[in-house]
Amino acid sequence: MSATHLSCRRCGRDQPLAGIGTCPACFAPLDPIYDKGELHRSATREQIEAGPDSLWRYAPLLPVAPPADDRLSPGLTPLVTAPRLAAELGLAELWLKLDTANPTHSFKDRVVAVACAKAQELGLDTLACSSTGNLANAVAARAAAEGMDAVVFCPYDLEREKLVATAAYGAKLFAVRGSYDDCSRLTVELSFELPWGFVNVGLRSYYAEGSKTVAYEISEQLGWELPDVVVSPIASGSLISKVGRGFDDFLELGLVTGLRPRLVGAQAAGCAPVAAAFADGGRVRPIRPSTIVRSLAIGSPADGDAAVDAVRQSGGAIYAVPETDVGVEMAALAAATGVFGETAAGVTLGALRQAARDGTVQRSDRVVLLVTGDGLKTPGPVTDRFDPTEIAPDADALLAELGVVL
Ligand SMILES: Cc1ncc(COP(=O)(O)O)c(C=O)c1O
Ligand SMILES: [Zn+2]
Repeated sequence: MSATHLSCRRCGRDQPLAGIGTCPACFAPLDPIYDKGELHRSATREQIEAGPDSLWRYAPLLPVAPPADDRLSPGLTPLVTAPRLAAELGLAELWLKLDTANPTHSFKDRVVAVACAKAQELGLDTLACSSTGNLANAVAARAAAEGMDAVVFCPYDLEREKLVATAAYGAKLFAVRGSYDDCSRLTVELSFELPWGFVNVGLRSYYAEGSKTVAYEISEQLGWELPDVVVSPIASGSLISKVGRGFDDFLELGLVTGLRPRLVGAQAAGCAPVAAAFADGGRVRPIRPSTIVRSLAIGSPADGDAAVDAVRQSGGAIYAVPETDVGVEMAALAAATGVFGETAAGVTLGALRQAARDGTVQRSDRVVLLVTGDGLKTPGPVTDRFDPTEIAPDADALLAELGVVL
């Protein structure tokens, strides 16, 4: 393994590779540090290409040893072109990264795979999390696959479609009378009391690294080339900042050449603290979310400032997408590409549309849009389009209905 220790993002103090989520001295997030020489030896194009068809092909760049049996592993999800949507947006080249193809239909399977490997290394037998829905699914399924217990804490009023599968996987589900931020505070408190692997608290440094694999895969799938722009939804800010880190890793290792991709971030207008900080040039200030995009409804984002920094350094931008556009964009994505993404995908397409309009994204750019979750979990905003024509099982009646004269 090439990870050597954890390092505090703020004060720079080192910590061992233990289950500590934040710096004991200043409470800032901790990031794994890797032995550069070891990475140059073990993370070559040839070794990666010869690896498993999952995110574990990038194991040297992750802070855990890969599982001996990598059943149900996420990653290596399809990267597909979207020529009709590209034309609609005035772009020459648009790709969709379909993280809906992961075992529980969202990118959260990536982060949980890494956190779970660490939990097992630490000898823990329960996986736990606070969640806006998708993480709960991923934790429950991974625990079921590994024979572990799962305990998840979600806001009581989340979409049912999102949580039914979580229950089927056998997880203990707590519906917390409060927001996601209340769930998050609760799990931080509980992490001091219970010997569980809280994937986004004590194991967060490992969990977060799983999102780098989105960038690794995009680069490899483009033939070891970088895109010009990646458009990503933002909740806690972890995904977009680690996607930026992933491209930097490949550049530093010489696995790709060229310019760092510009990162374009997407939030829903009813919960846009990171977009607001980007716009006013300051730090992220917590807000109380009021949005239909429940998966992105984090008012106090743990990595919000890191997301703003990553986007600024990349030359990108962050947009707040009007709530009324979410369903429109979900349907636009589905109708132009055949991909039914969840509310977060509607927001992501809305942000790309704004970026294409204001010139942040140009016609000649090679753009990748992340579809991080499945529309079947959040069909609410497009149900108004569901208006089937009821007919008798009779061909003549149908032809008459269509006005076809034979
Ligand atoms: C579908 C989906 N996309 C994107 C995100 C954002 O992830 P992050 O919290 O890492 O910013 C989430 C978070 O829950 C999500 O569920
Ligand atoms: Zn510190």
